[in-house]
Amino acid sequence: MSTLALKSSISRIAKATGSSSRARSSTFLLSGLIGTGAVASYLYYNNNKNNNNNNNNNGKIVKPLLGAAIIKNAQIPEGKGIQDYQSVYNAIASKIEEHLDFDKGAGYYGQLVRLSWHTSGTYSKYDNTGGSYAGTMVYAPESSDGENAGLAVGRDFLVEFKDKFPWISRGDLWTLGGVVAVQEAGGPKVPWRPGRTDLYDAASVPANGRLPDASRDGKYVRDLFKRMGFNDRETVALIGAHCLGQCHTYNSGFDGAWGPQFNRFTNDFYVRLLGGWHVRKWDGKKQYQDDETNTFMMLPTDIALKEESYFLKYVKEYAKDEELFFKDFAKAYSTLLELGVSYPRGSKPFIFKTVEEQEDE
Ligand code: HEM
Repeated sequence: MSTLALKSSISRIAKATGSSSRARSSTFLLSGLIGTGAVASYLYYNNNKNNNNNNNNNGKIVKPLLGAAIIKNAQIPEGKGIQDYQSVYNAIASKIEEHLDFDKGAGYYGQLVRLSWHTSGTYSKYDNTGGSYAGTMVYAPESSDGENAGLAVGRDFLVEFKDKFPWISRGDLWTLGGVVAVQEAGGPKVPWRPGRTDLYDAASVPANGRLPDASRDGKYVRDLFKRMGFNDRETVALIGAHCLGQCHTYNSGFDGAWGPQFNRFTNDFYVRLLGGWHVRKWDGKKQYQDDETNTFMMLPTDIALKEESYFLKYVKEYAKDEELFFKDFAKAYSTLLELGVSYPRGSKPFIFKTVEEQEDE
């Protein structure tokens, strides 16, 4: 798509809302998006915004207030219930199943879990900014955050479901994609609630630097997850998602998978972490390689979980007890996906059936 076509597309969006300040921020967004590889997703998700009137405040811009007063109330599209979201779940699951050979056999599990985590993990409990509520990853500067490199693949994978289910918001779709991936890879049931909205406001887009840098140490990891509201146990449980998928030099500068079963959700990450590791000799970023086979990898922040006593005790617990890991992961991951979203008191999460369970019925 040419820059001209992009500009005219964005000015159409601005006209549809009749807002000149919005047009100004669109131009700002345009410059941030070009060259990030996120342009296709950006335009798609935005041009379809008008289909989403049930949950975008009828097209009005919601101006978040500054500081702790930001309110992000869940808004479930009218008339939609668990069956509607189970249909989206099933559609995503069957597309995953059609592409099991993606990324050298990793499938889309890792990609979708990482997308759900990065859309949520920008959250700061200190000012209630960031998080999955407004699906802001299509906007600059979040779209061009180096830590989000490669996630256009996951967003593009899910884009067709915005067409098929036009009432679902980006944040709901991206977080639901992660739930599908965990459950279909054999992981625990993850309680999930809908109601994120397609909010469009430059002020709601988090700055870069909120997602973790894998070259850092344990203290950094601890502080970063504390910013999201997690304790040490929850932090260790969440990082166990590194059983899925792999690193790609073209995204992060790191290379390889954490283990051989990278399309199954297991506690294998902790079992391997407790084995022997040495620094890989190569001209890429510092990362670790397993002593036994020289095939699998750990990031410096993964190794930090074993170096710091406040993390190590949980690594040992999860390596011994997969059931405990599943229980703790499901709870922490469900919380992660909802960070910053306010739900009505007593609202019950949905628990989705896996494809296998539905086949057995
Ligand atoms: C200190 C915290 C973390 C750091 C530094 C970190 C860093 C990374 C890096 C560098 C990659 C490789 C990306 C690429 O090259 O494509 C990656 C992949 C991945 N991360 Fe993390 N991560 C962290 C926590 C988490 C958490 C909490 C989750 C989920 C709950 C998660 C899920 C994943 C998954 C599933 C992949 C594989 C993606 C794929 O296969 O494309 N990570 N992570």
